[in-house]
Amino acid sequence: MVKAVVAGASGGIGQPLSLLLKLSPLVDELALYDVVNSPGVAADLSHISSNAKTSGYLPKDDGAKAAFKDADIIVIPAGIPRKPGMTRDDLFNINAGIVKGLIEVAAEVAPKAFILVISNPVNSTVPISAEVLKAKGVFNAQRLFGVTTLDIVRAETFVAEVAGKSNPQELTVPVIGGHSGDTIVPLFSQISPSVTIPDDKYEALVNRVQYGGDEVVKAKDGLGSATLSMAYAGYRFAEKLLKAVKGAKGLVEPSYVYLPGIPGGEEIQKKVGVDFFSVPIELGPNGAEKAHDVLGNITEREQKLLDAAIAGLKGNISKGVTFANAPP
Ligand code: NAI
Repeated sequence: MVKAVVAGASGGIGQPLSLLLKLSPLVDELALYDVVNSPGVAADLSHISSNAKTSGYLPKDDGAKAAFKDADIIVIPAGIPRKPGMTRDDLFNINAGIVKGLIEVAAEVAPKAFILVISNPVNSTVPISAEVLKAKGVFNAQRLFGVTTLDIVRAETFVAEVAGKSNPQELTVPVIGGHSGDTIVPLFSQISPSVTIPDDKYEALVNRVQYGGDEVVKAKDGLGSATLSMAYAGYRFAEKLLKAVKGAKGLVEPSYVYLPGIPGGEEIQKKVGVDFFSVPIELGPNGAEKAHDVLGNITEREQKLLDAAIAGLKGNISKGVTFANAPP
């Protein structure tokens, strides 16, 4: 029996993500938590004739605890999204506290759950989550994931456009680093099957993968950031993880993780000099079974992108760690 929780279930990402989880044969119970409207979203979804038993919870009557209790997987898209002109880091002040509070509840009532953090800035909210779990004595790096899948999804789409491929999903495009602006590092030299990006298109393509989210923020013109593509990406990661937990082999997806706590991660940590970093992760029954070192074959141009990413990540990570450990 798999119990999945969405925290922030009434939002732009939360609703379509909850719909996808409700449709999944991999989910038996779906608990929706939000500060508004979650009973409504749950009632609506509960009429769909799929397997998952769906319920909604609000903060009253310890709703977060009831929703999270004994969850197997908790997906967190709670918090405010960007408006035009904002960076993901501008969301820190509000979202850091929201994520901290939710992880505290998870640590207490679902200490073994796989936790998928979508709330931005992911570069900082994942370190916050790790610190909270450590303080509660239940941190297992193999079970904590920052969801960067949308960067991979965008890279697949944009590369396919440039390369004239009709099915973007046949491409595997590793994207490593973090999840904002120039901390996002697409490795076009390692696309499989191999694709050659013309020199005159390279920079624009990198920029589009790094800043593709801004296209959506601009087009929505004050009404939020990516929600539907993010719900797809969040579901794609959750589905792969649930399949891997049930024994499917060879499932790999990049994710922003605490490297020293994952097999293969320590060597990568020594190379990049930051604890939290996204690399392709092999998924399995324990969650993150192995971090794949893709740094060996990178090009000079990619190395430059990587250097900029690491510089940005250092600040984002220490900001999260400091916040999590500050007295209340
Ligand atoms: P939204 O504003 O539409 O939805 C957020 C939901 O969180 C709302 O329903 C709100 O009531 C709820 N919420 C607020 N405080 C809460 C709390 N303490 N507990 C439970 N729920 C709470 O925002 P949207 O567009 O769904 O985005 C959510 C987050 O996801 C944002 O931080 C956004 O930046 C991030 N995001 C992350 C992406 C990624 O690739 N990781 C991509 C796109 C967005």
